[in-house]
Amino acid sequence: MSGSSIGVLFKVTTWGESHGPATGAIVEGCPPGIDLIEEDVQKVLNKRKPGTIASSSPRKEEDVVKILSGTFQGKTTGTPISLIIQNTNVDSNAYEDIKDIFRPGHGDYTYFKKYGIRDYRGGGRASGRETAARVAAGAIAGKIISREGMEIIAYTKALGGIVIKLDRDGAKKISREDIAENSLMCPDKDAAREMEAKLEEARRSGDSLGGIVEIIVRRCPPGLGEPVFDKMDADLAKALMSIGTVKGVEIGAGFKVAEMTGSQANDPITPDGFLSNHAGGILAGITTGQEIVIRVACKPIASIAKVQQTINERGEPVEISIKGRHDVSVIPRIIPVCEVMVSIVLADHLLRQKAL
Ligand SMILES: Cc1cc2nc3c(=O)[nH]c(=O)nc-3n(C[C@H](O)[C@H](O)[C@H](O)COP(=O)(O)O)c2cc1C
Repeated sequence: MSGSSIGVLFKVTTWGESHGPATGAIVEGCPPGIDLIEEDVQKVLNKRKPGTIASSSPRKEEDVVKILSGTFQGKTTGTPISLIIQNTNVDSNAYEDIKDIFRPGHGDYTYFKKYGIRDYRGGGRASGRETAARVAAGAIAGKIISREGMEIIAYTKALGGIVIKLDRDGAKKISREDIAENSLMCPDKDAAREMEAKLEEARRSGDSLGGIVEIIVRRCPPGLGEPVFDKMDADLAKALMSIGTVKGVEIGAGFKVAEMTGSQANDPITPDGFLSNHAGGILAGITTGQEIVIRVACKPIASIAKVQQTINERGEPVEISIKGRHDVSVIPRIIPVCEVMVSIVLADHLLRQKAL
């Protein structure tokens, strides 16, 4: 019945509801002796906070993390690491009016059908708030993989139908500095300006926007991934699909492979390495040592002010306009969440490969 954990050797469990007293994570299987203090986790968590940009929710969370167990004198001990983040900025009033109404596009209907009871405040467990716990846990995974020289970089590839104008070769050169240049974490400045304007327009009209995040893993060693059910691509897709709003995951050339011939899609191998990377760094579920290239499609935020048709818990038709504090787009807040989910999968597979 439990679906709140991910990973085999490096295992992350999250807990908590959006408007409960706190949210948090338990990390099992972290190797001992890794330098870890609260500030390390806090730095990563700060990237996920609601900001001041047009896409962001006005909910201002402090998101202060506390490590309750699993470290001693600034190092991991090999025992379970428990992380807690208090929910300090909770306003459940906005949910009183819609407490027995299902928001179209959100989890209200399915949680009710599944459990017969739901915490309607802020979306409960289906809230984007749950991802704060993932990010805290993922900060630890990030430490494990960066010790091996791996680096993950993720950015806005598209928002509201505006796509960045950098080709694959351009993506190879994208640095953290390029992404940090604007609040949308978009490496194409002109596209970022257009996206900001489109977000503002959506906000004004009480609507929301979707987009695409691209994630690149650099310097991943070959050999990670456990055929046949825990292939690297299978585990990455599952980890990323588990984030709310994600409706599609592509690896490498992704859906485009369906239009290619074998001679176009194959990546020729030479003594000096692969000549292309349509496979996105994964063959037969095992990493090749090339960059891992992943794209994630995010749907528009479900909670919108525009009037929509829905039903209440008694099945009666009603109209809904959602007030509350909501993001206009999950981008860019989902970007650090994507990065940590990839970190968690890689850390798990790295430890599994070492155990082989
Ligand atoms: C970082 C983050 C922030 C989110 N913020 C909101 C929000 O403000 N309002 C909302 O309705 N949904 C928000 N979501 C999306 C919902 O969590 C998600 O749509 C819901 O759980 C239903 O899941 P599904 O979209 O995967 O079907 C957010 C998701 C993430 C990852």
